[in-house]
Amino acid sequence: MKFPLARTHRLHELRPSHCGQRVTLMGWVNRVRDLGKLVFIDLRDRWGLTQLAFTTDVLVTPLAEVLAVRDEWVLAVQGEVAARPQEMLNHKLPTGEIEVQVTQWQVLSTAEVLPFPIAEGANITASDSTRSTYRYLDLRRSPVKDSILQRVKLVRAIRNALEAHDFLDIETPLLYKSTPEGAREFIVPSRIQPQHFYALPQSPQLFKQLLMVAGFDRYYQIVKCFRDEDLRADRQPEFTQVDCELSFVDQEQVLTIIEQVVQLALQEFNPDYEPRPFARMTYAEAMDNYGSDKPDMRYGLKLQQVDTEIFAGCGFQVLEDVVPADGEAIYAIKATNCGDKFSRRDFEQLQEVVRTAGGAGLLWIKVQQTLDDASAWQSPLKKYLDAARVQNLTKLLSLQLGDVVFLSVGERQRTRLALGALRVHLAERLQLCDDQQQCWLWVTDFPLFVRDREGKLGAAHHPFTRPHADDVQYFGSAPDKIRACAHDLVLNGVEIGGGSLRIHEPELQRQVFAALQLSAQEIDRKFGFLLRALRYGTPPHGGIAIGLDRLAMLLSGNSSIRDVIAFPKTHQGTCLMTAAPTTLPAEVLRDYHIKVD
Ligand code: AMO
Repeated sequence: MKFPLARTHRLHELRPSHCGQRVTLMGWVNRVRDLGKLVFIDLRDRWGLTQLAFTTDVLVTPLAEVLAVRDEWVLAVQGEVAARPQEMLNHKLPTGEIEVQVTQWQVLSTAEVLPFPIAEGANITASDSTRSTYRYLDLRRSPVKDSILQRVKLVRAIRNALEAHDFLDIETPLLYKSTPEGAREFIVPSRIQPQHFYALPQSPQLFKQLLMVAGFDRYYQIVKCFRDEDLRADRQPEFTQVDCELSFVDQEQVLTIIEQVVQLALQEFNPDYEPRPFARMTYAEAMDNYGSDKPDMRYGLKLQQVDTEIFAGCGFQVLEDVVPADGEAIYAIKATNCGDKFSRRDFEQLQEVVRTAGGAGLLWIKVQQTLDDASAWQSPLKKYLDAARVQNLTKLLSLQLGDVVFLSVGERQRTRLALGALRVHLAERLQLCDDQQQCWLWVTDFPLFVRDREGKLGAAHHPFTRPHADDVQYFGSAPDKIRACAHDLVLNGVEIGGGSLRIHEPELQRQVFAALQLSAQEIDRKFGFLLRALRYGTPPHGGIAIGLDRLAMLLSGNSSIRDVIAFPKTHQGTCLMTAAPTTLPAEVLRDYHIKVD
């Protein structure tokens, strides 16, 4: 038997109807089982497994040679398809009714002893770093491979949906000019232009807008983006966006069309998916009710603002001293009928959750024994709650025996965000998240600007985002009040996508840059090309970018985007397999005009 040979079948294909046929198969050795006069090898490829039977009856080589074969060797075999005996049928395997009785075989490649086992069902004790170093081996394992295959399927479904809606796939440059989108950029030194640098794009934002100026209404691109930011489970330094832009649209049309595209893609990805209109909520509603701009709508645990009057003169200083006029507030979360699930120590831990999220602290009340008398309740507050306050609280929060109330007090936004983090924590702890459920949500009307610690204005989304027509009047007087025509797409509490209508008038764009305290020279140096383009007939336009990795992560039931990226980076931004990033020899640095101490 001599390679090259033509493979006749893939390893998921053979059925009883093939019995008697001579076949040529190739793949990796998943498992070898020695039964004396008979050796079984499960051969594996991308598609599946097929059982090979080696017996002295039909084999042209000695059986001892077969026994030298090890896991993950690559073999080519020829043989005849035969029905398995009744007692050896494997109904879990599509090929479980047949085996191939091998007559000839050949080793195409051997494998060294593996750093961890790969065969189906093997228990993996290897560390994450070992698995990352040998990522190409980890990718052979079913759960890891399946996540990548799910991503492939998702990409196909998204492309089909976008193409069905007339979007054009157009590439944009990766060597690019530095533009702000919030994160730090990766820079690339130019060899030909000393002391000059490209930046890798944080997204193709400006190019897609320029494509609208160029007339390519309905653009999309499944594109790599680069951001040099602190990494988390849902952040990688290079990640993929499904980037979209449309012309002659208002925000409603952007949301409607993108929702149709997403629904179509979800249906192709999973035929059981039942399309339901995505929920909608403004940023203000999301913050006030859920303490988050990306609320998970699979469960309640809503935040509720508590009238400060309830605690006026109660004797508990923290609650008494709240000054609404200074932007302070009291917020509560009620967890229904779960008093028995929290001990005093648990409350201390939850206090930490709130503090870590920036809150001032946490108070709690376990409503027990009676609804009328706080002396029977468990709470650091109980002696400050007289009958009237108990009645007011019970009414406001519709309390029932067994409920637990969490209260936090302080600056409004910080308190809401802290309770928002507590809400997510409680939902996990109380197991309120149904993995099978998909709660899609549009969040709209974000603020146009945010302030940094020093109070300086920055763009909340990016500086090309269109302000609400009604709020343009506040530019000079109250920029914090200006709402943006921006939208985020949220799935189960994860920000899947973000976008906006754009500014298509050069003057309005200049006004936004000026509000961001860019000088006229800076505006021209950084964005002159954009402002020039906007002067040549620009259609109203808007769009969105969907984080493909995050969507693939959620739809494949994973908890890190690293699971759906073939070659992800570690949390330190390194690639353990190739040892990137690396230092460079001095002469290479010299070519790039880079001096290193
Ligand atoms: P934005 O910055 O909101 O918008 O990004 C869009 C989506 O990209 C995903 N994402 C990431 N995924 C993994 N790792 C990261 N580091 C990372 N950063 C962002 C998120 C996010 O919702 N140009 C605009 C889009 C527009 O206005 O049309 C933009 O990039 O899922």
